[in-house]
Amino acid sequence: MQKITKAVIPAAGLGTRMLPISHSVPKEMLPIVDLPAVAYLVEEAAKSGITDILIITNRDKDAIEDFFDYSPEYEAALSAKGKTDAINAIRRYADLTNVTFLRQKETKGLGHAIGRARAFVGNEPFAVLYGDDVIFSRTPVVRQLIDAYEKYGRPVVGAKRVSPEWIRKYSSLKVAPIEGDPTAFFCDDMIEKPKPGEEFSDLSVLGRVLLTPDVFDIIDKLSPGAGGEIQLTDAMAKMAREGGITALEFEGDRYDLGSKVGFLMANVAAGVLHPETGEEFRAFLKRFVSEMEK
Ligand code: UTP
Repeated sequence: MQKITKAVIPAAGLGTRMLPISHSVPKEMLPIVDLPAVAYLVEEAAKSGITDILIITNRDKDAIEDFFDYSPEYEAALSAKGKTDAINAIRRYADLTNVTFLRQKETKGLGHAIGRARAFVGNEPFAVLYGDDVIFSRTPVVRQLIDAYEKYGRPVVGAKRVSPEWIRKYSSLKVAPIEGDPTAFFCDDMIEKPKPGEEFSDLSVLGRVLLTPDVFDIIDKLSPGAGGEIQLTDAMAKMAREGGITALEFEGDRYDLGSKVGFLMANVAAGVLHPETGEEFRAFLKRFVSEMEK
């Protein structure tokens, strides 16, 4: 089976749920403690065996490119102060994988963004990490998806169970259990942003998928779907209906950096574990919560 070494990170969305900050700071660059969200994604991909990453951006998102570049003037100033560790910290993400960039040009939806990756992907299976979804897990989620792909030989969608309120904002998967594998399901249909009564199940595609290159021909023929956008879910639904795909209920806590509360929760979760902030931040949180409960 072909080794999976490529990943696409769509990061060209408008980020309207994070306005006003997102009109001048890309939501994919919002910090979780001291790293932008997109750095966590690149790290996850690298730990999963991915060597080449295409980040889909737009004309307002140069900050993402700058983050994955060296910074000669800044580094010269650090070097003069003997701060080699700081230089290494800056360069780490530039050197972790081979990152390239492509502009989406028109913000026509997640499916349209992925469609731009055809030349980069070529004829190989590839992972997609949604640019605003950060997941803290024991095994990197892309690795979990690659393992499922190698086991079942079909495209894989990362899935989680979500409440009825949230399923209407995400997608819903039609699934059947796979014997002997409690976290994997055979999926033969899905729907984006189902209206009440249209849901198939409480399983929703969240944050990570692993696709085969036939998705590009499907995307090219798609008409706008929910919200007037070219929806990746509609392309994956066709793949599910035609050959079946695997839905994997992955291990890990997902934070939606595209939403205000998700951004706050990700910072609390990472802040309590961070080697520089953990101890002080945990003590602060305990005090803060006990004050709040008075
Ligand atoms: P979202 O739907 O969460 O992003 O897409 P959005 O459109 O920016 O969100 P809101 O509703 O306006 O707040 C998931 C991922 O796909 C990217 C986004 O940047 C995000 O990382 N995306 C979305 C694109 O790259 N292009 C698009 O046209 C739409």
